[in-house]
Order: sequence, then structure tokens, then C-alpha cells
Amino acid sequence: MGRAKKVVLAYSGGVDTSVCIPYLKHEWGVEEVITLAADLGQGDELEPIRVKALKSGANESIVADLTTEFIENYAFPSIQANALYENRYPLSTALARPLIAKRLVEVAAEYGADAVAHGCTGKGNDQVRFDVAIAALNPDIKVLAPAREWGMSREETIAYGERYGIESPVKKSSPYSIDRNLLGRSIEAGPLEDPWHEPLEEIYLLTQAIANTPDEPEYVNISFEQGLPTALNDTPLAPVELISQLNETVGRHGVGRIDMIENRLVGIKSREIYEAPALIVLIQAHRDLESLVLTADVSHYKRGIEETYSQLVYNGLWYSPLKLALDAFIQQTQTRVTGKVRVKLFKGTATVVARQAETSLYTPDLATYGADDQFDHKAAEGFIYVWGLPTRVWSQKLRQTP
Ligand code: ARG
Repeated sequence: MGRAKKVVLAYSGGVDTSVCIPYLKHEWGVEEVITLAADLGQGDELEPIRVKALKSGANESIVADLTTEFIENYAFPSIQANALYENRYPLSTALARPLIAKRLVEVAAEYGADAVAHGCTGKGNDQVRFDVAIAALNPDIKVLAPAREWGMSREETIAYGERYGIESPVKKSSPYSIDRNLLGRSIEAGPLEDPWHEPLEEIYLLTQAIANTPDEPEYVNISFEQGLPTALNDTPLAPVELISQLNETVGRHGVGRIDMIENRLVGIKSREIYEAPALIVLIQAHRDLESLVLTADVSHYKRGIEETYSQLVYNGLWYSPLKLALDAFIQQTQTRVTGKVRVKLFKGTATVVARQAETSLYTPDLATYGADDQFDHKAAEGFIYVWGLPTRVWSQKLRQTP
């Protein structure tokens, strides 16, 4: 008796997920393995991956283009939330997991599978994101995670694969572990495990070294409608196209790198390098536009929501009730976040230099120091009396009863 009869496996084409196929069948008695490779704009050729799954023993191999859904339904809401985990990581890897989980569950339903599977190990965040997202979408389906249990070293995994016709990686495999999609790249392991090691230039693909960036600044105008990016330099663009173009422009100026020690949910500190050029600049621009159109209290309150939102997404709770409730709050705040932000890119920096919106709350008559000033200066006196009253009373009492 196996653990499941028919399994849909999230498949990347790498050694681990390839070895999962014979492992599920021969060690865990699975009768039928259907692989699902997700296109998230990572730039891989998907056809060789589709074929590789079959060669590795899959009964059926599916490729799903999820790029548009990824950007529209996962990345864009996250931009509206200005989501940065630990104030820095724009969640480029984390955002992909709930979408892959969703499609796994859908394919499992289509094929009448009794389990889904992934190739995550037991040390990362991704296993949590998959397992919890799957449970939220179908609490009754089993989740199998062979790589979490098999206890094989890298060499043993490769040797196991060879027994079932899975070629070992041809080129001497890179020491890094890399995750990639249209939003960016996450790079860890190898020499990066030493926090004192400066990343080699060769690990970067989407962002230029400052030495190679243009000597002239470049400006890009980013338009938003209800908090969603809609145009670059006044040219309306579909979400996927907008992200690709902006990655290109921003990366050319060496903007979008992050080198951080982060706290994983499983309690481990890890050193990760990110490249997410478009996403980082979009969050920066979006936040700036919000400062023009949101009232002070909404804006301040939203910062707390954003922090919680980022933690929920990082920690695998995309489909949780709290996350859904925060979504509703965030959507409500975005109704008037429509306007344009001008960003200057130069030598590794992105600076917002101008912004405009019809919904702007910025009032020149109130803000000006010139003759047109409409602000009632006398009213300030009474306001300050009342505002400062509790502090004055407290101070007097403190003096009387030292
Ligand atoms: N630490 C990031 C996260 O939890 C990325 C994980 C995948 N990274 C990798 N290099 N394979 O979202």
C-alpha cells in the first residue's frame, strides 16, 4: 500500500524534483505521477523541462503558463501593500508559491489525484508556503514532500537519479541555490553562507555592476491607477510587459540588489541575495504616490498593516483569513491612488524626483510660505493649547509631587 495512488508533483526540471518522480513510485508506491511545471516568466525553456519529466518517469507532464496570473494577482496586490519582508525583501520568491499551490490543487482535482507533492527540503520557507496554501485550498488532499524525508546528500540524490535514467547535471553544478521568476532572482548557499563574504559580481544577471552603468541618469515616469502600475513613460503596458521593461531599465542602472541576513520562519537565519529591479522601484514609487493622496492617519495606519501583510506572505499565509481581511483594507485605501511618479535612475540609485495626481491632497494654498498663504496662523495657538494640555498638566503635577 503506497502513500497515495495518483500524485501531482510541482516540477522545476532540477535534480531534486526529477528524483522525486522515481522516488514517489518506487519507495512510496505511487502508481501515477503527473508533473506540473509552472512558467512564471523565469526565462527557462519549458519544452525540454516537459520532456525531462517524462524521461524521468512521469506518466504525464504538464506545463502551465502562469506569468500573467502571477503578476496581476500576486505581485500587483503586493505592490499595493508596499510589501517588504523585514523592510527589505520584496517577496519575489515567496509570492510565487501560493500560485503554484493553487494550480497544483486545480490539476489534482482535474485528474482525480489523491495527493500533491513538491521537492522542498525541511529547512526552508517554501515547504511551509506550499503545505499551508494547499491546506487552505483543499484541506482534504495529502501533501507529499519526499525531499523532506529521504535524507540523501546531493551526491546520493544524483546517484539515485542515475539508477532511473536521470542524467546527473552536465556542467559542474553551481554552488549557489537560485530561484528565479519574472520578479527577480534569489541566490543563496555556497560561498554566500559566510556573511563576511562579498558576493561575486558573477552571481548577478538582472542588475549591472555600478562600473558598467550609464554615465547619464535616466528618468522613468511610472503611472498608477488605483494603486496598480499601468504605464511607463505614458505608454500603457500590460502588467507582464510593464515588469519586463522596467526590469530592463532599472537593472541597467545597477538598481535592485539586496544583500541581507533574514529570519526564516523555521528559526534559521540565512544569507540571501536578491535582484528584483522592477519590483523594488515600483514599491518605492507606489509608496511615494500614496504619500500624496492618502490622509495622514490612513497612511500611518497602513504602515502597520503592511508590516503584518509582509510577514503573512513570507510565512506562507497568503490564503489565510487575516491576509484576506488585510486585503480588504488595502483595497479600500487604493481607490484614489491614481497618478504619476517620476523616478531618476543613476549609478545604483533610484530616486523619486516628482509626483502628481488629480486626487492629490497636497494643497498649495496651505503649504506655501508665500503671499497666497491661506492657513489660519492664529488658529494654531488654540490648537497647541489643547494639544499640549495633558503634557502641561502632567509636568505641573510632577513638580508638585516629586
Ligand atoms: N529566502 C527567500 C524566501 O524565503 C528565497 C528562498 C528561495 N531561495 C533560493 N535561493 N533558492 O522567500
